[in-house]
Amino acid sequence: MKTFPLLKLALLSASAGLAFAVALGSTSGALAQTTAEQTAAQRAAYQPVFRLDGGDMTYAFGVNERGELQQLYWGERIGANDKIAPAKSAPEWASHDSSYTNTPQEYAGWGAGLYQEPALKVTFADGVRDLVLHYVTSTKPDESSVDVVLKDISRAVTVTLHYTIDPGTGVLARSATIVNNEPKPILIEQAAAAGYSLPRGEYTLNYLTGRWAGEWTLNSEPIRPGMKVLESRRGMSGFQSNPWFAIGKDDAGEEHGETWFGALAWSGSWRIAFDKDTLDKVRITGGFNPFDFGYPLKRGEQLETPIFYTGYSHQGYGGASRLLAKFTLAHVLPQAPNPKPRPVIYNSWEATEMNVSEAGQIALAEKAASLGIDRFVMDDGWFGKRKTDHAGLGDWYVDPDKFPHGLKPLIDKVHALKMDFGLWVEPEMVNPDSDLYRKHPEWVLNFPGRPRNEQRTQMVLNLARPDVRAYVFGFLDKLLSENDISFLKWDYNRSWSEPGWDQMPPDEQKKVYVEFIRNLYSILAELRQKHPGVEIESCSSGGGRVELGILRYTDEVWPSDNTDPLDRLTQQDGFTRAYPVQIMLSWVTDSPHWLNNRATSLTYRMLVSMEGSLGIGANLNNWTAEDFSTAKRLIAAYHGVQKTITQGDLYRLISPTNGSEFTATEMVAADKSQAVFFAYVHSTNEGRGFPVLQLKGLDPAATYTLKSIEGKTAPDTPTEASGAWWMNHGIDLMLRGDFQGAAFSLDKK
Ligand code: DGJ
Repeated sequence: MKTFPLLKLALLSASAGLAFAVALGSTSGALAQTTAEQTAAQRAAYQPVFRLDGGDMTYAFGVNERGELQQLYWGERIGANDKIAPAKSAPEWASHDSSYTNTPQEYAGWGAGLYQEPALKVTFADGVRDLVLHYVTSTKPDESSVDVVLKDISRAVTVTLHYTIDPGTGVLARSATIVNNEPKPILIEQAAAAGYSLPRGEYTLNYLTGRWAGEWTLNSEPIRPGMKVLESRRGMSGFQSNPWFAIGKDDAGEEHGETWFGALAWSGSWRIAFDKDTLDKVRITGGFNPFDFGYPLKRGEQLETPIFYTGYSHQGYGGASRLLAKFTLAHVLPQAPNPKPRPVIYNSWEATEMNVSEAGQIALAEKAASLGIDRFVMDDGWFGKRKTDHAGLGDWYVDPDKFPHGLKPLIDKVHALKMDFGLWVEPEMVNPDSDLYRKHPEWVLNFPGRPRNEQRTQMVLNLARPDVRAYVFGFLDKLLSENDISFLKWDYNRSWSEPGWDQMPPDEQKKVYVEFIRNLYSILAELRQKHPGVEIESCSSGGGRVELGILRYTDEVWPSDNTDPLDRLTQQDGFTRAYPVQIMLSWVTDSPHWLNNRATSLTYRMLVSMEGSLGIGANLNNWTAEDFSTAKRLIAAYHGVQKTITQGDLYRLISPTNGSEFTATEMVAADKSQAVFFAYVHSTNEGRGFPVLQLKGLDPAATYTLKSIEGKTAPDTPTEASGAWWMNHGIDLMLRGDFQGAAFSLDKK
């Protein structure tokens, strides 16, 4: 976990003369051993309150009179000297809702009458399934974070809760380490990273759903009594739901109102439950998906959960996404805190599909270089017997029919053209028609004696197996060692089925849900360490594996195979609610589009892709001289303002959702020295002009010069005016027709 040295952690105490103060400052290792039972009297005398402040947020929790750890506050930052009273458990509600269930616990064990979503549920070797976690002690591993140790009231199961807050954005990282010190194994049936609570109120939940070619749909609905679950049971994070949410209070909107947000850093099966309880409080519990989960811990073993990040903004959903994007750039991505703007890439997939060859790729590379492209990426088809998607996955040698001299001539040519070289791989998969599968049929996820379901005629290699991990790391390491490759597009084209790990005893097989992902992360980390110049893209048939877990190891993601520019506007609107523009790769492809058969101009397609990390994926062999000149001019313009677009503060001025005829987005550099905005009309109806665009986030007192990247303003528009003018008077754009776009920059004088 990354740390934040400036954090101010206040450990307050309800009383002096602390019975447990002696434990403070111990090391976490020593704390895990602390099993002394607390008497009621000791607890009453010592109920610490913990408070974390960062950005505009304060998070506070404390120990109640029973010894449970309870949330006390999560919201807008409060005064530095404000006193937070010690925790007091909530009363019982009649005879059916226990005090234990009504109390908003930080990490509730399933037991003692808990009807809410538990953070942790275990079965002990003797069949006991009751777990009640009480505070034992706490420690400050460094200036920026606190670890709090809980232990079952009678058994030697401890949970260390890790908290770290980012002083800049207030984003809070929480996770848990569960340790079994019982003589016999325990079975963990459910383990969350963290639980959060919101007080009684009216809330709206925003979340993202999708499917292949239809990712990043924003959903918005009131949180009603009962449980709302977002999840993946697929062994991967998935398209269907993304592990992100934003909750608005009352009438919170794009730029106003209280907003709480969260994101789970896990690339396997996950779940976030939103539970409006009997007393109208909202509980948010997120972590491993408990469906088909079972993680045994022998004595001395531990389970580490993923990190569940959360934060708060009083500037609505726009404020929430700006904070999370800033945090991701500064603390999550592999190049944090200063990720380089992404190279503009050319990718050959839509031009050639698997029909790649040395001559064909070189012809495309020459054309790409003439546009000012920085990186040339060869996609699927270069290896094994990969003529179609029915064969070859797993056989990671260069196909001698397609590349008789290996990859070197192509890579050298790409370098001579002043681009670097990237290559597509799909390391976790195998086609049954492959040498690898013929040799190692036991390497795939499977239940012996049962059919092995194929999707895209492929199966999932069980990366949890040490031999599979060694094979995957080995071939990638060799590929990167023997070839001058700067970039891997790491694809992952199917969900799991039959998730058996038959190498293990039956009661250990479900560990596959955790160990597979841990090995994936460790391969990525080791490759990056051994080949520090190599960058990686996370692709999963588009946006099937995008979350803050994979983003610790990958520099960008492929949000969707759907590159139709109009669809992309809506997808980009959804995507940027949760993730930074920097990681959102966006290719310009051919028209009419293969998915919708919609015809659009190259300029329009270019502008839509320039709102992200730009790439070209069209068949350049079919481009006209005019196409080359348009793309070259816009790529040069993009390079000039790229940092502001991809790392600046994003304002969604007009969202394309809900049937809007228009879209407008603006990005403002952190120091407000530059802004870039894009505007689109989807289809002009009844002669309606584009709404006057009032910009946001500028320095009102500074003078900004307006420059067109593409498009025209009304004739009387000044070229120089104050930030206040651009934000209040606004800009009148000349934008009419079908699928029209414009882009401008504003530079501070
Ligand atoms: C799915 C990806 O999303 C595409 O961009 C392409 O790389 C294909 N896989 C290749 O099989």
